[in-house]
Amino acid sequence: MCVCVCVCVCVCVCVCCLRMMEVEVGHHGVLLTRSGGKYSAIGNQCTHYGAPLSKGFISGNRVRCPWHGSCFNVHTGDLEEYPGIDCLPCHKTLRQEKRIKRMGTAVPGVTHTVLLLGGGAASLICAETLRQENFGGRIIMVTREDLLPYDKTRLSKVMNVESDSILMRRMEFFHQYDIEVWLRKEALSVDTDKKTVTFDDGSVQSYDQVLISTGCRYRQPHNTVLSSVMKKMTNTEFFLSRSGFFLKVKEVVLKSGKVIPAEVLIVGIGNPTRTFSPNLCFGPLIISSLCVSLLQYMRTNVPDVFCGGDLAMFPLAMAKNKMVNIGHWQMAQAQGRIVALNMLNKTTELNSVPFYWTVLVGKTIRYTGYGEGYTELVIKGKFEDRKFLALYIKDDEVIAAAGLNFDPAVSAVAERLATGKVITKKEAQYTGLAWIWCQAGTAG
Ligand SMILES: Cc1cc2nc3c(=O)[nH]c(=O)nc-3n(C[C@H](O)[C@H](O)[C@H](O)COP(=O)(O)OP(=O)(O)OC[C@H]3O[C@@H](n4cnc5c(N)ncnc54)[C@H](O)[C@@H]3O)c2cc1C
Ligand code: FES
Repeated sequence: MCVCVCVCVCVCVCVCCLRMMEVEVGHHGVLLTRSGGKYSAIGNQCTHYGAPLSKGFISGNRVRCPWHGSCFNVHTGDLEEYPGIDCLPCHKTLRQEKRIKRMGTAVPGVTHTVLLLGGGAASLICAETLRQENFGGRIIMVTREDLLPYDKTRLSKVMNVESDSILMRRMEFFHQYDIEVWLRKEALSVDTDKKTVTFDDGSVQSYDQVLISTGCRYRQPHNTVLSSVMKKMTNTEFFLSRSGFFLKVKEVVLKSGKVIPAEVLIVGIGNPTRTFSPNLCFGPLIISSLCVSLLQYMRTNVPDVFCGGDLAMFPLAMAKNKMVNIGHWQMAQAQGRIVALNMLNKTTELNSVPFYWTVLVGKTIRYTGYGEGYTELVIKGKFEDRKFLALYIKDDEVIAAAGLNFDPAVSAVAERLATGKVITKKEAQYTGLAWIWCQAGTAG
C-alpha cells in the first residue's frame, strides 16, 4: 500500500525544535526529521521488533532505536547498525513494508567460492552483505542445525517459541539471492593449505575464502547440580537467562551436607565457554585462550580465513583496540558485515559500539559500551524504582552504560561513544543528562 506524505510544510516549526517527531499519515506512523538542514520522512517503526523510533535518539544523519540500538539513516531509511536487518520505508511515497537493501545474485561464470561455516548471526549478515555489494560468486552457508538462521536472542525471552516464528529469512529469500544453505552438516576440519573443509558426511568442499563463525557453546553445570535441577524442573518455576538459569526451590544441599534454606536458586553456569565446536580443527590459526585471535579487518593470521561472532577475539575500536571477545547478537552481525567487505577487499575497520539487551523477570535491561575495568559507577534514577541509568567510569571517562526504564539514554550514550566523543565523569555526575542530549547529536 502506498501513502503520499503531504505533511512537510505544516510540521516544519515543530520538527525544527525537536529534530524528529512522529506524525500519522493514513494510519501509518511516519518519522519526520530535520538533519543537516534537510527534512526527511521515513517509517517510524523499527524493522527489528517495531519500537517507535521517535522515542529513540537522533544524532547527525541517523536515528538510533531506543530498544536494542539499531540505527537508520534518516534521509534514506537504510540500516546502519544492527540488530535490525531490514531498512525502513522512505521517500515521498511511503511503502509501509520494511525493505531489504538492494541485493544481487550469482553471476554465471564467476567461480569464486565463499564458504561460511555456521548459520548464525555473523554468517547470515556476511552472506547478505556480499550480495548487497554485488559479489557474483558462489556463497555456501553451512550449519549443523536443521533450521535456517534464526533469532537466537528470542530463545531466552519467549517460552515455547515456534521455530518458524524466529527465522531471520525464509528459504525463498536464499533461493532468490543464490545463497546456498546446507543444513544438518557439521564441519570437522579446515585444511588451510589445500583450502578445503571436510564435513561429517565425508564430503569435502573447497573454498577461495572461508568465514569461521561457529559460535560457542555453554559450559555444562556440574552433573549432580544438573540432575537435581532437572528433577525439579517438572513442577517448579524455571527461568532461563543468557548466562544461566534460576528456579524456585526450598533448599540447597552443599557437598558438605550443609542445608541452606533458599527460595530461588540461581545456576550461574558462567559465560559461554567461548569454545567453538571441539570437532573443528583450525589448523595453524592462532588460538588465544579459547578464541580465535584476529588481526585487523576480521582476518586471521592465515590468508583467506576470516573469523567472526562469538568465537572471535578482536580489537575493539572504542576500547583503544584492546583485544576482546564480546558475545552480543549485534556485534556478531556487525562483524559479519565487516568480514564481507574485507573479503571483497573493501578495506573496512570494525568500529561498532557494543549494544546488548536482556530481559529479566519481564524487564528489559539495555547495555552499551565496554565496561571491563570500570572503577566507579554514576547512577541516575533509583534501583528501587526500577528506573535507572548506570554509567561505568574508568580513568574519569564513561566507558559503558546500563539502563532500565530510562529510554533513550542508553541509545544516546551509544551514539556519543560511536562518534568518539568522550563523556567525562564530571559531565556524568553533575550535569544531569543534558550532556547526552546536547552533545551526542550534532546540530542539524
Ligand atoms: C539463549 C540465548 C539468548 C541470547 N540473548 C541475547 C540477547 O538478548 N542479546 C544479545 O545481544 N545476544 C544474545 N545472545 C547472544 C547471541 O545470540 C550471540 O552473540 C550470537 O548468536 C553469536 O552469533 P554467531 O554468528 O557468532 O554464532 P551463532 O549465532 O551461535 O551461530 C553459530 C552457528 O554455527 C553452527 N555450528 C557450530 N559448529 C558447527 C560446525 N562444526 N559445523 C557447522 N555448523 C556449526 C551452529 O549450528 C550455528 O548455526 C543470546 C544467546 C543465547 C544462546
Ligand atoms: S526494536 Fe529497534 S532495535 Fe530492536
